[in-house]
Amino acid sequence: MSAIVFDGISKRFVIHHERPRSLQALLRHLFRPRGWREQFWALRDVSFAVAPGEALGIIGANGSGKSTLLKLATRLLAPTAGRVVVDGRVAALLELGAGFHPELTGRDNIYLNASILGIPRRRVDACFGDIVAFAGLERFVDTPVKRYSSGMQARLGFAVAVHVDPDILLLVEVLAVGDLQFQERCRERIHALLAAGRTVLLVSHDLAAVGEFCTRVLWLHEGRVRALGAPEAVISAYRRFQRGAPADEALGAEEPPGEAPEHGRRWGSGEIQLVAVELLDGQGRPTQRFTTGAPLTVRLRYRATRRVRKPVFGIAIYAGGLQLAGPNTRVDGYALDEVSGEGTLLYAIDALPLLPGAYTLSAAVYDATELHPYDHHHQCYPFRVAAADGAERYGLVALQGRWESAGRGVPAVPPRASAG
Ligand SMILES: Nc1ncnc2c1ncn2[C@@H]1O[C@H](COP(=O)(O)OP(=O)(O)OP(=O)(O)O)[C@@H](O)[C@H]1O
Ligand SMILES: [Mg+2]
Repeated sequence: MSAIVFDGISKRFVIHHERPRSLQALLRHLFRPRGWREQFWALRDVSFAVAPGEALGIIGANGSGKSTLLKLATRLLAPTAGRVVVDGRVAALLELGAGFHPELTGRDNIYLNASILGIPRRRVDACFGDIVAFAGLERFVDTPVKRYSSGMQARLGFAVAVHVDPDILLLVEVLAVGDLQFQERCRERIHALLAAGRTVLLVSHDLAAVGEFCTRVLWLHEGRVRALGAPEAVISAYRRFQRGAPADEALGAEEPPGEAPEHGRRWGSGEIQLVAVELLDGQGRPTQRFTTGAPLTVRLRYRATRRVRKPVFGIAIYAGGLQLAGPNTRVDGYALDEVSGEGTLLYAIDALPLLPGAYTLSAAVYDATELHPYDHHHQCYPFRVAAADGAERYGLVALQGRWESAGRGVPAVPPRASAG
């Protein structure tokens, strides 16, 4: 079940250009004398689904289609093509003052706003005091909204939206307005709504806020979905784009040299996210230094934004570009029937067979077919292996084989080892 589904959504606007006013303009528009129209695609073939309880962040440059997308979710706009399905009651805070009548007082606007959201008057009566107190507008409830400052309007809008107990909350830049204290109250409220299983769509240029609240992030670029997945991955790709990388190269590109060079790439659709990947020594302490023949345990903490059937968790170890190993829960016969919420998995190696050197670890979780990545951290975790006393030194792995003498003609004394 999904709270919101966008299925192949496109939205076209028709822009009406004015009649030419000057002689120059008239000459320029000689062949379009009655004013002219231009078509503009604000969204192109946008598809995604948001599960109940999920917080989806929507990021992208000015004019990339974020507000248009939310207006389609509220049905203020109809799509030109495709299908929007919304399951639940929606409250939206799209633009400053949207849904308010400037001549009416704060009090009347609260009732007006709630009635637009389909909330019966007695329910508003019950939470009216809370709304006003949350907004901190006790002294101004009987003042017309046109006399409110922009911050006061934003407070009132947010207070109404979160108090009418919506199933789905659509928010644009809520944390950008209001003073610090109000922002803190908004934060707490959004966290509380998410904890109560409500669905939130948050449009913001504040990438830190998007990273704080969202379980997945959608990046719109010129009306198309550029990326959809785990917040860290999409936000870092968008940051690369903002620093000047072309949009299609920013995605999945390596971090620029000098900036966290040890970090690899991350991708996946995000239904299950690896929220922490740690390498532990024999005492269970996180470290990046190990010893040949000593224990190493990989701890994977994950969070599933919905129930996921038969996921496959795996790790891989690399020396440079060469993959040395790649165990996963399916090949090792540790089948997981279903995961939901948060959890931890351990992969324990009793005696590390790696010889001294530098290695990197990847961790990933895939669907049952192992074709679809939910979250893949590619070569993100570097570690070193030091020599143990008397251990092998040549190559990458300790084979832990055995030498024996056998058969006729065997020298009484084993030949001196001549490896190298
Ligand atoms: N009613 C409209 N008529 C014509 N064009 C429109 C209309 N609404 C939006 N657009 C155009 O659609 C594009 C997407 O606009 P939208 O408001 O969705 O962008 P946005 O991603 O929210 O940008 P911002 O970050 O500036 O808020 C813009 O080019 C805008 O000019
Ligand atoms: Mg906008």
